[in-house]
Amino acid sequence: MIDLRSDTVTKPVAEMREEMARAEVGDDVYGEDPTVNELQKMVAERFDRESALFVPSGSMGNQIAVNIHTVPGNEVILDSECHLYNYEMGNMSIFSGVQPRPIETSKKYLPLGKVRGKIRPEKYYVSKTGLIALENTHNMKGGVVYPETRARELLKLAEEKSISIHLDGARIFNAAVATNRPVDDLTGGFDSVMFCLSKGLGAPIGSMLTGSKEFIEKARRVRKRLGGGMRQVGVLAAAGIYALENHVERLEEDHQNARFLADCLEDLDQIEVKTPETNIVMFRLNNSAISSRELVEKLRERNVLVGKVGPQSIRMVIHLDVNGEDVEEAAEAIKSIF
Ligand SMILES: Cc1ncc(COP(=O)(O)O)c(C=O)c1O
Repeated sequence: MIDLRSDTVTKPVAEMREEMARAEVGDDVYGEDPTVNELQKMVAERFDRESALFVPSGSMGNQIAVNIHTVPGNEVILDSECHLYNYEMGNMSIFSGVQPRPIETSKKYLPLGKVRGKIRPEKYYVSKTGLIALENTHNMKGGVVYPETRARELLKLAEEKSISIHLDGARIFNAAVATNRPVDDLTGGFDSVMFCLSKGLGAPIGSMLTGSKEFIEKARRVRKRLGGGMRQVGVLAAAGIYALENHVERLEEDHQNARFLADCLEDLDQIEVKTPETNIVMFRLNNSAISSRELVEKLRERNVLVGKVGPQSIRMVIHLDVNGEDVEEAAEAIKSIF
């Protein structure tokens, strides 16, 4: 099977497993796991932050950040297509008692004027805006990179208004590699940043939160409250360290394969392919004779797994476990159907 449903499907490579087996461990709830501590130190340094925290998932990292930056009754301004809004089970309302204030936009960034318009005035009888959240790269917009100048504009606005700003950087290393920018340049100024080790970086589990010492101290408490306090978890942190040391630069290969896949499909009249900026290829079906559900099924019969992201839209994600030949085979399978 050529599995292009997500970059979460990668399996740990042999060397990563060896590092996991060798990892020194301790009880991380007591802060005594040396490998977790090493990973957290490494991440804080790479992001030029005071501190970092290992969390089981990206969703938990995002929810911890929302919980710390807000109080019940607040609003969170975000993109209507973002992960925090669509794929975290409404948890910001359940766990933190806040409501999302989504912005619909076809742009790859949140336009400054629209954000300004959504910030509540300082009146006692309206909700207070507690947080602005951005996503880079933006998953459902096709892995697009959040333009740095646009992020800077919003950071400035947030500072002026004294509103916290969180970055869901699940795939921030894809953005860094695609733009050839150090990751701390893309994330500087945010009050908190979450990124995933378990996606393009190829670790089996885990995400990281970074921020100030004070933020991370609070995050440790909220993680525990959510049941995310882990024990001899150095075996997983070792995979994260391996991923950061060995799987960042190679993301460029995934981006090249994504462009190659899009190029192979460009001439098909039945679909409209978006030019990928990173590792995600999206296309829309022009041909109403076939739905995305049917296409997913037909591709499965040809040993290719892809994701349906709408009645007419398909998403394919390139990762560590697919190579150029797989991509060519997937493109041939799609062509054979049309
Ligand atoms: C942009 C984005 N943020 C957050 C997450 C959540 O990560 P996890 O699956 O580890 O909870 C994902 C997962 O796909 C994602 O794409």
